[in-house]
Amino acid sequence: MRKTYITTAIPYVNGAPHIGHAMDYCLADVFARYQMLIGNEVRFQAGTDEHGNKIFQKANELGLPVEDYVKENSDKFKDFIHKLNVSYTDFVRTTDPEHEKRCQEIWMKLRDHIYPAKYEGWYCTGCERFITEKEYEENHGICPDHQKPYERLEEENYYFRISDFKESITSAIEAEKLKILPEFRKKEVLKLLEDTPDVSVSRPKSQLTWGVPVPDDENQVMYVWIDALANYITVLGYPDKDISDWWPAAAQFVGKDILRFHAIIWPAMLLGLGLPLPENLVSHGMVLSDGQKMSKSIGNVIEPVEVINKHGIDAFRYYFLRHIDTFADSDFTWEKFENAYNNELANDLGNLVQRLATLASKNNIVLDDYTLVLPEEYRALMDNFEFSKAFDYAWEKVQGINRRIDEEKPWSLAKEGKTEELNACMNSLINALLNANLMLKPFLPNACEKISAAFDKTVTVPTQPLFPKSK
Ligand code: MSP
Repeated sequence: MRKTYITTAIPYVNGAPHIGHAMDYCLADVFARYQMLIGNEVRFQAGTDEHGNKIFQKANELGLPVEDYVKENSDKFKDFIHKLNVSYTDFVRTTDPEHEKRCQEIWMKLRDHIYPAKYEGWYCTGCERFITEKEYEENHGICPDHQKPYERLEEENYYFRISDFKESITSAIEAEKLKILPEFRKKEVLKLLEDTPDVSVSRPKSQLTWGVPVPDDENQVMYVWIDALANYITVLGYPDKDISDWWPAAAQFVGKDILRFHAIIWPAMLLGLGLPLPENLVSHGMVLSDGQKMSKSIGNVIEPVEVINKHGIDAFRYYFLRHIDTFADSDFTWEKFENAYNNELANDLGNLVQRLATLASKNNIVLDDYTLVLPEEYRALMDNFEFSKAFDYAWEKVQGINRRIDEEKPWSLAKEGKTEELNACMNSLINALLNANLMLKPFLPNACEKISAAFDKTVTVPTQPLFPKSK
């Protein structure tokens, strides 16, 4: 048994969750459930990123005390994670006093790599990010993600000497000691690393009040990303506790838009602290709405609760984990969602369960003892974070069982009184279903539990179809 630590990006709380936020949680949850399935012990972090000007300004606009505002939105994210049926174990808020105190301790430990200097350049409030001249020119002064002009800054900051760690990070990534997935993102990161200057890691208090104070300079506040990235270890108790049981993380899940922070600043922080690098950094694509990134600032957000309420959480997870590619950007449309639900979930799986349970119960089939195993091909895909492909693999098995029923026609065997053959045929089909069900467990935990229950020793026909067809 291995101790496996899994993390998700902590969202900003300048609004409620949208369906794009589900990606981190769903992917990490599939990995967590898979790890548990193969016998590993899992610790799974989630949380909220609550500092920064964007959030502070939003609370001000709404006339709310910022503490109340962040609490309210943090609760919405927590609620969302529960609705998604995500098996997290730890929840961290960056405004937790414990987190803030640990962040300051981390800062002091990194002090040798931090120096004061003047920053003169561009900044994107949407990304909470310093922008290089090259990027400014490439994007013609406008952030492509937030569609807002970059701001000009001139201020005294502390800088983090990334150059102290560049070589070590590059060789760790190249040697896959820190594995970046998918492969093409790894190449992007290595290219980016070559040009990465030292990064600014604080802002004057006059510019940023809502953040963790720099411990030995009352005029400076930590840059939000330092505070945010630290969450992955402060939640484990670092530096007060020994975290070596859980750290390094087996997998950290982030969107491609924030990979640069996780592949450059974060490893530099870890190396500065003398901590090992995470094993896998998995960066997923974006869920798009009409071909555009879904974002609060753009205003094209699809309400996740609406999608969950339509057909339940397993339908939501089905769509997100199979039809939204794990790594590439994919569009969410209601039409595709409805099709996937009716034609695949309800037809392929829902009907199969109903059909087999009804046939077995009508004919008093006695179930054999089945051996459930995860096939090598499936395990290889799951181990490589190719979740949508692993899901496809399991689904092909489901479709294969449907084809077999049509070919082997157990109802004819029943009619002809071929009891022994019928028994063998039904047991073989149910065995195949339960093996497919095992592979589906990380993806559709609710439905799979019902399927296991329906064929547990004796057969119970579900009173309600698993996935009632929509009208
Ligand atoms: N607060 C930072 C993360 C700090 S992690 C130390 C942040 N927050 S965010 O709210 O903008 O994004 C949180 C996560 O949701 C990120 O992984 C991001 O990529 C993901 N997504 C946000 N919008 C998304 C889509 N439309 N589609 C898929 N993922 C998206 O960045």
